[in-house]
Amino acid sequence: MNSPARGSLLGIEHLEAKEILGLLKLARRMNPLKARPLLRGKRIVLLFYEASTRTRSSFELAAKALGATTVLVHSSGSSIEKGESLLDTGYTLRAVGADCIVMRHPAAGAPYLIARHLDIPVVNAGDGMHEHPSQALLDAFTILKHKKSFKGLLVAIIGDILHSRVARSACHLLTKFGVKVTLCGPPELVPDVAATLVPGLRVTRYIEDALRGTDVILLLRVQEERLAGERIHLQDYIARYQMTAARLKLARRDAVVMHPGPIIRGLELTSEVADCPQSVIRDAVRNGVPTRMAILARALGRAR
Ligand code: NCD
Repeated sequence: MNSPARGSLLGIEHLEAKEILGLLKLARRMNPLKARPLLRGKRIVLLFYEASTRTRSSFELAAKALGATTVLVHSSGSSIEKGESLLDTGYTLRAVGADCIVMRHPAAGAPYLIARHLDIPVVNAGDGMHEHPSQALLDAFTILKHKKSFKGLLVAIIGDILHSRVARSACHLLTKFGVKVTLCGPPELVPDVAATLVPGLRVTRYIEDALRGTDVILLLRVQEERLAGERIHLQDYIARYQMTAARLKLARRDAVVMHPGPIIRGLELTSEVADCPQSVIRDAVRNGVPTRMAILARALGRAR
């Protein structure tokens, strides 16, 4: 067991603010449309044990824009289905020549386990309900694009925070820059203890309270696949927490609406909100490519 290889990105919690700013600066210099062969000859394996659309495609396109070769290994259709252990899969991928592994896994800590046993950088593309660092970085990139600075910002995170690695990484990142974050949702999805994750968080049960004066609204999907026995009454959820055009008016006039996707229209937000001029949902997806180019360049020591 070693410490993770230099360049690994396992979470936001232990990153310093200056490392985050360095990655964001590098991301701003990346142009997905202009190939730069920084990673030519490098082999990047995308190891996905869970469904993914945005994260997987943008990591792959980011790697290719930098000239790397990519291989996708998905838990279905690979030897994982035959019972191969996580570590053995990692050793196998290293043996075929992987220079970096980008991985998504349903268990919190799985990327740390692989990173401690392999001598190559590991990038966490989402581990259970724990962290999703590349998402937090692309969300920060998007916020800075629209708001210029973190100074004095109010951010409201609304929805299924309990099961959300996106919310956890976002809270770690934003509070490192002094952003005030309000968490909003019913107790089943936003327990009171959620506010104790890091200093600078506040919980409210009232969406009106969360929205008033806010600059950034980050909506989350109700992760029904992770609700272990708890039942959420969706009609009640919609009545109390759905983001509608009328509710959006409570936020600042220049507030932006974000959502990591996949969005469920008619549940956590209306179509009207998803497609309104204040929605930067698709812009954030676009920003995922340069952000992941920066993450991969850093992982493989080519962060210039
Ligand atoms: C999310 C995820 O998988 O963590 N999506 C994403 O990566 N953009 C959130 C979700 O599944 O709701």
